[in-house]
Amino acid sequence: MIGKIIGLGSYLPEKVVSNDDLSRIVDTSDEWITERTGIKKRHISDHKKETTSYMAGIAAQRAIEDAGISGSEIDLIVAASTTPDVVLPSVACTVQHAVGATEECGCFDVNSACPGWISAFLTAQSFIEAGRAKKVLVVGAETLSNYVDWTDRGTCILFGDGAGCAVLEACEGTPVTSIMRSSYERGDCLYCSNMKQPDRLDDEDFIKNTHFQMAGRDVFRFAVTEVPKIIKDVLKKAGVSADDIDYFVLHQANARIIEATAKKLKIDLGKFPMTLQETGNTSSASIPSLMNEMKKNGQLQKGQKLVIASFGGGLTWDAAYMEY
Ligand code: ACO
Repeated sequence: MIGKIIGLGSYLPEKVVSNDDLSRIVDTSDEWITERTGIKKRHISDHKKETTSYMAGIAAQRAIEDAGISGSEIDLIVAASTTPDVVLPSVACTVQHAVGATEECGCFDVNSACPGWISAFLTAQSFIEAGRAKKVLVVGAETLSNYVDWTDRGTCILFGDGAGCAVLEACEGTPVTSIMRSSYERGDCLYCSNMKQPDRLDDEDFIKNTHFQMAGRDVFRFAVTEVPKIIKDVLKKAGVSADDIDYFVLHQANARIIEATAKKLKIDLGKFPMTLQETGNTSSASIPSLMNEMKKNGQLQKGQKLVIASFGGGLTWDAAYMEY
């Protein structure tokens, strides 16, 4: 049994912030950002309206519409987010309401930073393989702009907000092959210690730690070492060669990381689609949103063989091989 993707949807906030816009608030330039990351712009949410749950709900509605089914058919919702807007209810529960799923639908969230959508997708696959769910929404949604220090040019240029969602349907087929890895020991190059608390707005040390703290070079080195390795390992585990793969759908963090991965694996960069130029790094939203774009522009076709892979805070890194 496998959960086949039968629908995709995404949401990006209306407000677009270009590299030139950022160069007016921190000491940076379009040239520097483009050369070091490939990013040209990102979408930043209106925090009063475009919350993580709101964006997740719209992405899910669009995915359901794309699948041509009704929200009442969904029997499980797994949402990934590092930046939920409230502690309770979970993002998945708000999605249940947004799509009109019934009370027979289980809902829960996972948090594994940028690979969160892959973790949620693999969780959903396990439910389907065990016969515990038939139609599942797998959502990734983030409001990273809430946790970015807008005076730190080393991080604020990287991130964007958004949401993506896939609808999975239980079908006969070969299960997805996957590998999940994590390393607390190496995780101090990327962390965010404190949740925002309205009564501590004048505590500078506290506020500093409500922002992403990142040693960019260390994260970069980690990514260009571990992402190619986990892709090689998942291909070996699945018993397929890189030549068999139609697309490598990677977390959209930095074009240089994706280029280095393609080079290390000796695979044509054309097999690594990118949307990060338009969106920046949207963490757990990046892979379903990229897949949705690929579907819309005709790149994604039924029966194609895909590898998905991501890395992020924790540290965490996952990869999976599947037939679309
Ligand atoms: N504009 C201009 N100059 C800058 C900027 C900027 N936005 N940011 C840093 N610089 C300067 C630095 O101050 C430094 O100056 P110095 O040489 O005078 O000291 C110089 O540029 C080089 O800085 P580095 O940090 O070494 O630059 P690097 O080439 O490593 O690029 C970057 C930085 C883009 C952050 C890169 O390291 C990277 O992409 N790392 C991976 C980050 C990532 O993907 N994080 C997300 C993980 S996913 C998650 O869980 C959220």
